[in-house]
Amino acid sequence: MDTGARTPLVEPVVDWRHRHLLDVDVLSEAEIMRILSTADAMAEVLQRNVARTPALRGVTIFNLFYEASTRTRSSFELAGKILGADVINVSGSGSSVEKGESLVETLNTISAVGADAVVMRHHASGAPWLAARTIDGHIVNAGDGQHAHPTQALLDAYVLIKEFGDLTGRKVVIVGDILHSRVARSNLWSLTTLGAEVTLVAPRPLLPAALSNGASEREHPLALPSVRVESDLDRAIVGADAVMALRIQNERLRGNLLPSSAEYARRYQLTSERIADASPEAIVMHPGPMNEGVEIAVDVAHSPQSRIEAQVSAGLAVRMAVLFLLIRGGA
Ligand code: CP
Repeated sequence: MDTGARTPLVEPVVDWRHRHLLDVDVLSEAEIMRILSTADAMAEVLQRNVARTPALRGVTIFNLFYEASTRTRSSFELAGKILGADVINVSGSGSSVEKGESLVETLNTISAVGADAVVMRHHASGAPWLAARTIDGHIVNAGDGQHAHPTQALLDAYVLIKEFGDLTGRKVVIVGDILHSRVARSNLWSLTTLGAEVTLVAPRPLLPAALSNGASEREHPLALPSVRVESDLDRAIVGADAVMALRIQNERLRGNLLPSSAEYARRYQLTSERIADASPEAIVMHPGPMNEGVEIAVDVAHSPQSRIEAQVSAGLAVRMAVLFLLIRGGA
């Protein structure tokens, strides 16, 4: 019988310079690939009869989620448990946050209880950076406002590399609510670091101002990596190797002028007709949650080209890798 007791999984990354994973913009290509190769080792653990390893035994991880989540939260919880850690879930509702406790006080409290690592989702962009300055434990950003979602970008890279190998020159189209998408922002960094050619597609109200005005991203104070920006999906999708649809984030719209849902779907929905103009081997991605029939047609979401379930599965191995490398392999 497989006891699952086989550690270490990989050599610790003793020179890994990051105690926290706040975004992927600071990661080199080699560091991204190290995380993804560690995810491969974690995927092997998941294939065992007993998918458990004591790699993080004695470690306490807090999942601190101030925003709704299904995929990220459940996969981080399972990742910690498979690695042998104690995992404690704290959410905005049902915790002392409801009684007016501040983020800093909540962080100090869970630190005092003994958190070695905090996996954090928060509606405010930058909240994990505040956390990293507030307590000693490792901080993993599980999505902050409309800013960053590093583990989503890493799992997306994992799926793309499994599909295509080297991403150099691969054409990745990201279509949808770019303005409010932390997924798009983190993917910009990781995909361009890995050599992919990224095209962002959205109606102008859903593009960041610097991009919709046609300004050079490098001249902008928030300097995004170099990407192509399009408002015409039919033009952008031609020859694409991967197309990632994003939902419209109604919870963050704040009065931005949008086309009607019907008009949006007419111009930007990922349909089988549009996918037919992409590369014959093109894959379809979506970080979820999906609004089927709005940003993506139902048949496309569940087509053989769809890798949406593969993305969710990859999330577990990638998050195991991130927790393991931060906690056991960090400087
Ligand atoms: N992709 C993603 O972050 O999904 P959840 O909001 O369900 O975690």
